[in-house]
Amino acid sequence: MTDMLKIVDLHVEAGGRPILKGVDLTVKEGETSILFGPNGSGKSTLLASIMGYSTINVTGGKILYKGKNITDMPVDERAKMGIGMMMQRPPNIYGVKLGDLLRATADDAETAIAEADRFRMERFMDREINVGFSGGEIKRSELLQLTAQRPELLLLDEPESGVDLESIDLIGRKVHDILEEGRDTNGRHVSSLVITHTGQIMDYIGAKNGYVMKDGVVDRVGDPMDLLKEIRLYGYGE
Ligand SMILES: Nc1ncnc2c1ncn2[C@@H]1O[C@H](COP(=O)(O)OP(=O)(O)O)[C@@H](O)[C@H]1O
Ligand SMILES: [Mg+2]
Repeated sequence: MTDMLKIVDLHVEAGGRPILKGVDLTVKEGETSILFGPNGSGKSTLLASIMGYSTINVTGGKILYKGKNITDMPVDERAKMGIGMMMQRPPNIYGVKLGDLLRATADDAETAIAEADRFRMERFMDREINVGFSGGEIKRSELLQLTAQRPELLLLDEPESGVDLESIDLIGRKVHDILEEGRDTNGRHVSSLVITHTGQIMDYIGAKNGYVMKDGVVDRVGDPMDLLKEIRLYGYGE
């Protein structure tokens, strides 16, 4: 399998201070990798770096997507190339209705709107995005927007955090459907990098590799289930 995403010795600053201090990480075509790590270790910053958010400043190393160096590419071009992200804490978007955003951005708007039923989001099409949504509703809405773009690399930042059990099950099954066999209905490879604290999302997806991030570097690499067991037993260590 070739590499979908390859991160080499990545150094990143945010807010004028170094956050990532030499990250190496690879996700192969059609595979899912899990990213663990204590709060503040730089996990969300890593996803923001892959997506190309303007809040981060790459000071060294590189990010390759499908073999192409995307390190300095703007976020919209990365999205067009097939990278999509579900944010940990997405902002409220006042004045923009969820249905309008889906119609404007979806690969296939009709299907995306129809999909809303399966996310139990059909009642939200005329609501401003995230405004007054519950934790579960925000995550379901994010995943609906993400799937509408039909990404080939999914970046999921704690998809189960702050979410009720029923929504976790819905999100988990949906992510499972997207990642099943690592291919979509058009036969394209679909890969993902998933941040989890609780490991709950791992009940739904077959992840190949696990990474533990600590203070801006990848501290351990291994089987994700083994790593989760270790973390549950011993925490992240000192
Ligand atoms: N835009 C920013 N400005 C200043 N500090 C930031 C910024 N983004 C992230 N950080 C800091 O970087 C560190 C890592 O944050 P984050 O990547 O969100 O960690 P994690 O997702 O692992 O909890 C934290 O100390 C956080 O405050
Ligand atoms: Mg985070």
